Amino acid sequence: MGILPMMLSLLVLGSLGKLTALASGVLTSQQSPEGTWARPSRAGFTLDGCPTSCGSVSFSYPFGIGSRCSRGPDFNLTCNDATHPPILFLCDGITEVVNFGGDSHFDLNSIWASFSHTIPLKSGVSAYNLSFKPPGRSFHLYPFVLNIIGCDLAVYSVKENAIQPICATVCPDPKISETVAMHNCNGFGCCRVDVHNYSDIYQFKFVYDHDTKNTRAHSNWTSELWDKISINTDYLKLSWDIGDQPNTACVACLGDHVECEGHMHDTLDMTSRYRYNCVCHGGYTGNPYIPHGCSSNGKGYNPTPSRADCTRLCGNISVQFPFGFEAGCFAREEFHLNCTNMTSSDALVMLEDKQVIDMNVDEGTINVTISEQQHWTSISEPERNPLFLPYGFFLSIKWVAAHLSCTEAQRNRSGYACVSTNSKCVEVTAERIYAGYRCKCSDGFQGNPYIQSGCRVSDIDECLQANSCKGICHNTNGSFRCTECPLETEYDPLKMQCAKIKQQPLLLDGK
Ligand SMILES: *[C@@H]1O[C@H](CO)[C@@H](O)[C@H](O)[C@H]1NC(C)=O
Ligand SMILES: *[C@@H]1O[C@H](CO)[C@@H](O)[C@H](O)[C@H]1NC(C)=O
Ligand SMILES: *[C@@H]1O[C@H](CO)[C@@H](O)[C@H](O)[C@H]1NC(C)=O
Ligand SMILES: *[C@@H]1O[C@H](CO)[C@@H](O)[C@H](O)[C@H]1NC(C)=O
Ligand SMILES: *[C@@H]1O[C@H](CO)[C@@H](O)[C@H](O)[C@H]1NC(C)=O
Ligand SMILES: *[C@@H]1O[C@H](CO)[C@@H](O)[C@H](O)[C@H]1NC(C)=O
Ligand SMILES: *[C@@H]1O[C@H](CO)[C@@H](O)[C@H](O)[C@H]1NC(C)=O
Ligand SMILES: *[C@@H]1O[C@H](CO)[C@@H](O)[C@H](O)[C@H]1NC(C)=O
Ligand SMILES: *[C@@H]1O[C@H](CO)[C@@H](O)[C@H](O)[C@H]1NC(C)=O
Ligand SMILES: *[C@@H]1O[C@H](CO)[C@@H](O)[C@H](O)[C@H]1NC(C)=O
Repeated sequence: MGILPMMLSLLVLGSLGKLTALASGVLTSQQSPEGTWARPSRAGFTLDGCPTSCGSVSFSYPFGIGSRCSRGPDFNLTCNDATHPPILFLCDGITEVVNFGGDSHFDLNSIWASFSHTIPLKSGVSAYNLSFKPPGRSFHLYPFVLNIIGCDLAVYSVKENAIQPICATVCPDPKISETVAMHNCNGFGCCRVDVHNYSDIYQFKFVYDHDTKNTRAHSNWTSELWDKISINTDYLKLSWDIGDQPNTACVACLGDHVECEGHMHDTLDMTSRYRYNCVCHGGYTGNPYIPHGCSSNGKGYNPTPSRADCTRLCGNISVQFPFGFEAGCFAREEFHLNCTNMTSSDALVMLEDKQVIDMNVDEGTINVTISEQQHWTSISEPERNPLFLPYGFFLSIKWVAAHLSCTEAQRNRSGYACVSTNSKCVEVTAERIYAGYRCKCSDGFQGNPYIQSGCRVSDIDECLQANSCKGICHNTNGSFRCTECPLETEYDPLKMQCAKIKQQPLLLDGK
């Protein structure tokens, strides 16, 4: 996580110093024995009958409702279906889940959430505490904004007993409504707090201007803002991970096509734990936390272009299959390129926002330039489009036909890319990450291994190039043969040919 994480939960401390534990779910669930939670490693593991949605929010293991359906106390959700629509809460019973992360790699472990809480004002009480703590050790909170709605409040942050004023509200308009106050949130009945500093526990103190309240309570002013303090967020994003002990790191990542991504994390209580997420390999989707949860995303490689009259030239760049410009001309959507003007001789070939300056299908490379405005990282991030891998100085990109090993790819011939005779399959890794396979013409052939008969005999005379032959070199279709030097000749590495064995005068003299 690039952004300083923060964790959240809400405990309201009553003005008499008595703890009102709203997050009672946390307290009770943490006492439950580990053994009662759903773990795929355990015999009889099944999620049959486990709810997977609450209102319009869908969720999946490790999250679930109750111990039979969730991985641990942090993943135990609550669905309040007494409300319309029903509301899903995280394990703290306070943080409302708006949605779980989407399909994009970066959002897989995100949760969009919100919370709102009301502190009723009690007569004779002028100070109210509010403290945040993590809903569970598995959560981080991105920076967010709190709206504090109420009249004549001074809001302070409390950190290690240092009290700092943050914002304050006044209510000159006695009839201001909560909605209006919150909409503007400019100090009139509402003020905002940016929460962006990392802290395991964050505390606020609200000090109510008692005298003002008493005066106004006797007047005719009836605004709802006088009776309570409302605290809510417009937008709240959390991320979650699995925080097992170091010796059990990655145990939640199961089976094929699953990777474990994580790091050591030092918690405030000085214990180090390995925090990680499981991720399906590129090209696979599904749930990496359950057995056989990741499957090929089905957006496979189609080796047969359905169109015959494909444009293959754009500007001075020749674009060969599996790449193409028009529908039916490329093998998969990722290989769909754009030509800025099909009819112009100085048109540009674009791969998303990058200009293609050269491509070589036999070598599996594309050279691109990126404009100065574009950040280098826009192509250095393989997850963005895992078929493409940054390489060298990021000006040359390696690509693969699919995220499959050669053996896997050859199992399904109708989706196998290396269709040319005299082509072979090559496994590609980049920066230690296994990427998938691409095709290459066999030795001595060159051309396009991705089309029928695309690999042609290399017209290079291998015998004229540096080679390993220590005898007579015979150029063949695409290769060379080597035979021993004839009798009474030997190989002369300088002339690179067989030469008559020179008489050895010294030896003769000795005779
Ligand atoms: C609020 O928190 C502060 C600092 O932690 C503490 O000193 C004070 O007693 C608390 N006040 C109430 C009303 O709980
Ligand atoms: C899961 O959460 C619910 C609601 O907070 C709670 O009633 C239940 O006891 C929790 N389950 C366990 C096993 O802790
Ligand atoms: C956050 O940290 C910065 C710098 O350490 C500090 O200036 C700021 O007041 C802090 N904000 C809050 C809300 O504590
Ligand atoms: C309170 O307001 C109502 C209507 O807004 C008005 O009729 C009434 O006279 C007011 N009473 C006082 C004491 O100001
Ligand atoms: C294509 O043309 C551009 C400018 O017209 C030139 O810079 C570039 O080198 C050419 N590329 C090839 C592959 O010929
Ligand atoms: C494409 O290029 C041709 C020839 O240079 C030009 O006539 C035409 O206007 C261009 N089309 C667009 C959409 O720019
Ligand atoms: C090609 O360009 C058009 C228009 O600029 C855009 O809508 C489309 O998404 C682009 N397609 C690709 C594959 O980049
Ligand atoms: C493309 O990149 C490859 C590998 O980095 C390089 O050998 C080749 O010269 C580059 N082609 C162009 C036109 O820059
Ligand atoms: C084989 O590949 C084709 C094309 O990618 C795909 O449509 C088909 O579902 C695959 N079959 C199997 C059994 O995976
Ligand atoms: C190479 O292949 C071509 C066409 O397949 C054939 O005509 C030619 O005779 C072959 N040459 C050699 C040296 O085998």
